[in-house]
Amino acid sequence: MSGVPLPGQGERAQAVRAMFDRIAPTYDLLNRVMTLRVDQLWRRRAVRTLRLAPGERLLDVCAGTMDVAAEARRQYPEAVVLGSDFSIPMLSRGAAKTGLPAATADALHLPFRTGSVDAVTVAFGVRNLDSHEVGLSEMARVMKPGARLAILEFFRPESTGTRAFHGAYNRLALPVMGRLLSADAGAYRYLVESMERFASLPEFLDAAGRAGFRDVKGELLFPGVCGLVTGVRA
Ligand SMILES: C[S@@+](CC[C@H](N)C(=O)[O-])C[C@H]1O[C@@H](n2cnc3c(N)ncnc32)[C@H](O)[C@@H]1O
Repeated sequence: MSGVPLPGQGERAQAVRAMFDRIAPTYDLLNRVMTLRVDQLWRRRAVRTLRLAPGERLLDVCAGTMDVAAEARRQYPEAVVLGSDFSIPMLSRGAAKTGLPAATADALHLPFRTGSVDAVTVAFGVRNLDSHEVGLSEMARVMKPGARLAILEFFRPESTGTRAFHGAYNRLALPVMGRLLSADAGAYRYLVESMERFASLPEFLDAAGRAGFRDVKGELLFPGVCGLVTGVRA
């Protein structure tokens, strides 16, 4: 066990934040190594779905070291891009790296006006929330009607093939890389265990519909382990 409570195990925010505070210095490096840089292709793809017009406002929730925000700035130089996260060590690295504005904020209590943003992204964040249902409702609250949502996440795998792939990669390769590249092997056990306990992609699509999104769609991105969910604020 990692020591950090898993999805469905109640109040987790403090332990999750402390974990990200600890791994912030090695987070970017581990991401690139663990996914062989495919994670950046996933972020690029998610951002491309937003079609931001000049002056439109994108809020990247659970922004961490702000790779999604950086990609949004690259694709839409005239959009207004803001990152938010509750881990100051993660966010300060992101703000320094990208030069973009960042706000310390809990995703379950966003300090933004109702109906104030044109798009929201979350990459690998919703799995960490105490309640992804509350998180989705809070995102819906700050979005204008018609605003676009793009979420990347490792959903609980459903097919036998994907479960086998996940199982082998997670149990053999990830712990070795976690130990080699980070002092905090427990954090990388949490990443694996939380994935296996999280909602499946179909369950998450239902939750997004209930939270106030329409045209909700989900797809698995190459190599079939990462889900992209898109939707429009109703
Ligand atoms: C796996 S990282 C993802 C970071 C970034 N989005 C990326 O693409 O690499 C998850 C981030 O979610 C943040 N997070 C988790 N729960 C949160 C919450 N309740 N409110 C705000 N941020 C949260 C963590 O601090 C962490 O930076």
